[in-house]
Amino acid sequence: MANLKQDGYSAEERLPMLEKDEEQGVQLPIDGGASRKLNYKWTFILVVLNCTMFLVTFADVAFRTFRSNNPSTDGYATDLNPLLKQTSYYSPLLDRVSVPLKTKSINDTLYNRSVYAQPPGLQVDEAWKQLTRLGLTYITAADVTHIGKDPSLTVHAPDNPDAHLMMPLVTHQLHCLNGIRKNLFREYYYPDASMLSPLHEDHLLHCLDVVREALQCAAPTELITYNWMRDVDIPQPDFTYNAVCRDWDGLKGWMDANEVDPMRTIAVWRREGGEREVDEPWQWTRIREEQERQREAMME
Ligand SMILES: *[C@@H]1O[C@H](CO)[C@@H](O)[C@H](O)[C@H]1NC(C)=O
Ligand SMILES: *[C@@H]1O[C@H](CO)[C@@H](O)[C@H](O)[C@H]1NC(C)=O
Repeated sequence: MANLKQDGYSAEERLPMLEKDEEQGVQLPIDGGASRKLNYKWTFILVVLNCTMFLVTFADVAFRTFRSNNPSTDGYATDLNPLLKQTSYYSPLLDRVSVPLKTKSINDTLYNRSVYAQPPGLQVDEAWKQLTRLGLTYITAADVTHIGKDPSLTVHAPDNPDAHLMMPLVTHQLHCLNGIRKNLFREYYYPDASMLSPLHEDHLLHCLDVVREALQCAAPTELITYNWMRDVDIPQPDFTYNAVCRDWDGLKGWMDANEVDPMRTIAVWRREGGEREVDEPWQWTRIREEQERQREAMME
């Protein structure tokens, strides 16, 4: 019993300290004499408790971390697209259309190019026109909140405050790629420089970033290998590969079937009054002022 009070604390009083020091991997000296057995028992119980609490805390932190990286895997109403739901931010589309993953053999060799990668012409333009339809449609105010936006700031249909306008991300990315493509054939698409909007270059640079971000965000890990090519001195990349792709045709079919015609709908929408607004970029203000100056100069 002499050791029991060696530091002025009883065994019971020491328990919290024991627990505390164990957290740092330090074991306090065990009391000797009659209390030794009692202390072993308590130590054991405390170690078990401690481990349990550690595991519970760890699991909780791990779960929260997982959830905060994927704040969006729950809240779905169907069990469609389970894998995409785990690897995408929340999207109501994943409850509305099945997007299976498909293994494809892709041949992107230099001279095996699709209609999209031909010099401009009627057929090519029609293919891109279909590909880049914006796919505008509606989501609910609750969905707007779920994707991390504020429904008091998003535009809704004039006759329905629960129908908020949206465009699938992929169609904006394709729209941007098409803008870059058209600029490659500037004489064909913009034969007269006056056809270029004052935002032309800013729009293209914005689009460059959109496509870059899309590629880096998806960061495909499928592989390109190299071959020796007859009569060529250095190894050449082989652009045929196997990839797992989202079923584009199914998704595109759904988007086309549910599309709101922008010309017939949003082009005629007007404010009803009281809408919250976002700021105009200062560059637009400057362009507007410049245009007004030019108009006035022409009137004089
Ligand atoms: C890919 O397409 C090119 C051009 O059509 C063809 O010559 C080549 O054999 C194809 N390669 C494979 C692996 O399919
Ligand atoms: C060439 O490319 C097209 C479109 O990407 C593809 O459908 C076709 O299978 C390819 N041809 C060959 C020979 O691989």
